[in-house]
Amino acid sequence: MFLFHSTVLRLTEITPDTFRIRLSCPENFVRQFIPGQFVMVSVAGPSHLDPLLKRPFSICRLRSDGFELLIKVVGRGTEMLRHMAIGTLLSLHGPLGNGYPVKIIKNDSRIMLVAGGIGIASIISLLDYCLETAYPLKNINLILGARTSSELLYIDEFRQLVEKGLSLSIATDDGSVGHYGLVTDLISRQLQDVENNPIIFSCGPMPMLTALGKLAMEASCPCYLSLESRMACGFGVCLGCVTRKKTKDEKHPWVKVCQDGPVFDVTTLML
Ligand SMILES: Cc1cc2nc3c(=O)[nH]c(=O)nc-3n(C[C@H](O)[C@H](O)[C@H](O)COP(=O)(O)OP(=O)(O)OC[C@H]3O[C@@H](n4cnc5c(N)ncnc54)[C@H](O)[C@@H]3O)c2cc1C
Ligand code: FES
Repeated sequence: MFLFHSTVLRLTEITPDTFRIRLSCPENFVRQFIPGQFVMVSVAGPSHLDPLLKRPFSICRLRSDGFELLIKVVGRGTEMLRHMAIGTLLSLHGPLGNGYPVKIIKNDSRIMLVAGGIGIASIISLLDYCLETAYPLKNINLILGARTSSELLYIDEFRQLVEKGLSLSIATDDGSVGHYGLVTDLISRQLQDVENNPIIFSCGPMPMLTALGKLAMEASCPCYLSLESRMACGFGVCLGCVTRKKTKDEKHPWVKVCQDGPVFDVTTLML
């Protein structure tokens, strides 16, 4: 884990409330990175203390000159980040967390990548890993959920991958694209069709992850969920991010999302 200063290299608005920000990083950062890891970003810059707390964001993509975050504006910190000028110095630490267990992905595994809303940022890092390691696209089902079609990000890029074998399914709450309803409707259908149980990896809103986790356990599919809890320190000190785990030991029913996660095997969580 590094504590470092990073320069804003590029900032691109994608939708009225979503943007991509490219940040510089130390060389070793890229070598240490595991898909699904995140960084804590000080939105105040190195010389200010308001807001005091850094904000956690998934590392979406590695680039030759740094890495990219994909950010949805929800409050003060993300609003401040959206207006960062190119060249601004930010204070960061990372990469943090455990990341997805990529070693369990074998060339003949079938994997299901499920992203809800801005959870796509974390899932893209895993999809990029699959592309880089020449994992066969025909073995990947990418399932996207969003409120409406305009909130589906990177969709043109994913459609190009469909031509190369990727299976893509979409669900929207308003039916503007794909299935009219929840992402989990698509998954329960696909779990019935798929012969070999897929390994499921997902990031998105907690209600989606809970429903998905239950479906996966019913179907006995291995399933790994990336949780986006609220965080204060990001490295295991403040206990601000704890969530309940399955345990017989009632004295220790908690895990830290920042340190033990953010990716958890579904069978270890109390959903
Ligand atoms: C491991 C991890 C990875 C994340 N990756 C991304 C990412 O790639 N892109 C992205 O846009 N966001 C991501 N988030 C969520 C992001 O950290 C919050 O949206 C951000 O901290 C909000 O900061 P703010 O100052 O704008 O909002 P605040 O003013 O702090 O809060 C505004 C609103 O957002 C809600 N909120 C704040 N934090 C979270 C959270 N963690 N989850 C759900 N709701 C929250 C608050 O309850 C409140 O309603 C991630 C969170 C975690 C823990
Ligand atoms: S955010 Fe502080 S312990 Fe996890």
